[in-house]
Amino acid sequence: MKNISKALIVCIFLFSALTLTAQITDTVWISSLDLSLATTGWGEKGINRSCMGNPIRLNGKEYKRGFGTHAPSLLYIKLDGYVQRFHATVGVDDEEKNSTGSVTFSIYGDGELLCKTSTLVSGGVSEEINTNIVGIDTLLLAVDGTADGINYDHADWANAYILVKKGRPFSISRPMEPAYILTPRAPATPRINGPKIYGTRPGHDFIYRIPATGNKPMKFSVKGLPKGLTVNKTTGIITGKTAESGRFETIITVKNDVGETSRKFTIVAGKQIALTPPLGWNSWNCFACAIDQEKVMAAADAMEKSGLADYGWSYINIDDCWMIQSESDDPVVGGAPRDENSNMRTNKKFPDIKALTDYIHSKGLKAGIYSGPGPRTCAGYTACYQHEDADALQFAKWGFDYLKYDWCDYERIAKDHSLPELKKPYIVMRDALEKCGRDIVYSLCQYGMGDVWRWGAEVGGNCWRTTGDITDNWNSVEAIGFGQAGLEYYSGPGHWNDPDMLVVGKVGWGPDLHPTNLSPNEQYTHISLWALLNSPLLIGCDMTQLDDFTFSLLTNSEVLDINQDPLGMQAARISKEEGLEIWARNLEDGSKAVGLFNRGMRQEQIVLKRSILDIPGDYIVRDVWKQEDIGSLGDSYAAVVPAHGVKLLRIYKQ
Ligand code: GAL
Repeated sequence: MKNISKALIVCIFLFSALTLTAQITDTVWISSLDLSLATTGWGEKGINRSCMGNPIRLNGKEYKRGFGTHAPSLLYIKLDGYVQRFHATVGVDDEEKNSTGSVTFSIYGDGELLCKTSTLVSGGVSEEINTNIVGIDTLLLAVDGTADGINYDHADWANAYILVKKGRPFSISRPMEPAYILTPRAPATPRINGPKIYGTRPGHDFIYRIPATGNKPMKFSVKGLPKGLTVNKTTGIITGKTAESGRFETIITVKNDVGETSRKFTIVAGKQIALTPPLGWNSWNCFACAIDQEKVMAAADAMEKSGLADYGWSYINIDDCWMIQSESDDPVVGGAPRDENSNMRTNKKFPDIKALTDYIHSKGLKAGIYSGPGPRTCAGYTACYQHEDADALQFAKWGFDYLKYDWCDYERIAKDHSLPELKKPYIVMRDALEKCGRDIVYSLCQYGMGDVWRWGAEVGGNCWRTTGDITDNWNSVEAIGFGQAGLEYYSGPGHWNDPDMLVVGKVGWGPDLHPTNLSPNEQYTHISLWALLNSPLLIGCDMTQLDDFTFSLLTNSEVLDINQDPLGMQAARISKEEGLEIWARNLEDGSKAVGLFNRGMRQEQIVLKRSILDIPGDYIVRDVWKQEDIGSLGDSYAAVVPAHGVKLLRIYKQ
């Protein structure tokens, strides 16, 4: 008996000691968590491997355990509050030792930044992280790219573990607020939306669909149209050609069963087109090379049927991959790039491109095409090099109204990145477009090289990409959007900075689509900022799968009015305190559009002081998304703005 109780005591002691030790020293490896819930910019979510599936290696040292990822990357971990420390050795994996990867690693506890590494680069040193996380409920491990983009950013959380006292941490999906709709429904009475001013060149085909919401059917009429233009009374599509140049102050009237409304619409027949930023859709962010003629037709149908066209959305733009890829063995896209007359051929996914543009035009919408100055496009399809005049004519004959002209493969033709070399191919196509006899919006795509905003207008550009490609995550939208500060001097009617296409709705860069990775707050920020920035707004999602929330983001007439304001003044950043920024622009009617942005991870109050707006007298503050007045400005106005969110205001005189 004595022996038994002795043994029992020893056992209990041992058991308690073991439990105690386990409580204090339990090591939970990050790679043992469900990493499928993490997000990563590219490649695999590497369990004890790099994002390319190689063993994890930093500075020549191999690590058995770790999480291999790619910027931007997020991993949320729920802790039980009994967790003590987080440890990892972090850096850019040796598989990109000789590249230009550069990243930072950050750790957040319940939204608060706990620690952040310096910028770690390919072939550079790694850093040790050893952080106290006692009392934290949700831990976030984040990897961000730096200003040079995310190329080669293979980032490892090597030897990463959590020391646990009790309970077991587990990974969770990114916590997100539910989608909330702010845009009020359009009234049943007619409302005319879209731009208030529109440019055309005399003698060229004119096509403009009057965007109007309200009960259908509607009756349209326009007073003061220049000679040669007529409006279809039932569809509201204005077509024809005007030989005269000048400024025509027309009045549009729209009637339906419950009312009637009129609005001024100025037509300027002259040299300049794109007097407001183009509003439309582009195939790249959803379908990339999985695009075909039917999908483009479906996009035109969706733009009309969803009601987007009633808010001024009008361009249906085909991006890359409509032409021949001569190196390909695939009979669908391969073959001779040009016909016997040297005209560019389409691939078999586009059996009748003229029928396609006719179809788009029959709805009063406009059609866009993509090519580039090099021998090939980015995706390796035939481009315009040494055929510029003929190709511009061909685009015009096909009936295109927009050309995105992408540098890409011209890289192997250009001698260097000197200004004359950067400008040269864009001047060649400008001259070709000038002779083609059609109004074609000329969109330069060369990612901002040589500060294109300084000379884009000079080489004929109606807009120019200021950045590399956008992707559907906060890191990308934030870096691109807020990176536009200072470029406001270069944007105005006829020539716009273009921070790339929209990433709301279902995107995916072809064939498989997914809902955007942006949270609802981030999507409000994206649309508000792009509206303030005068950006061309090109929807990047599959419009046949529009959900109510995405539709509401794209159809707020007052948000679109800011983007389409005839003054064309791009917003400037007027205040910046840590992650809180205020951007503002003047509007034609004397009011101001103001965005209060919170780039941080926690909800914050942002105070807008009257003094920074420099406006004497009584002003009303209007919540633009809700389309409601919220009071007078006083000396200041304070708003609580959610993490990564925005309050978009219009300040106008009483
Ligand atoms: C990129 C361009 C993208 C898309 C793609 C097509 O250079 O930035 O927007 O057009 O080429 O290959």
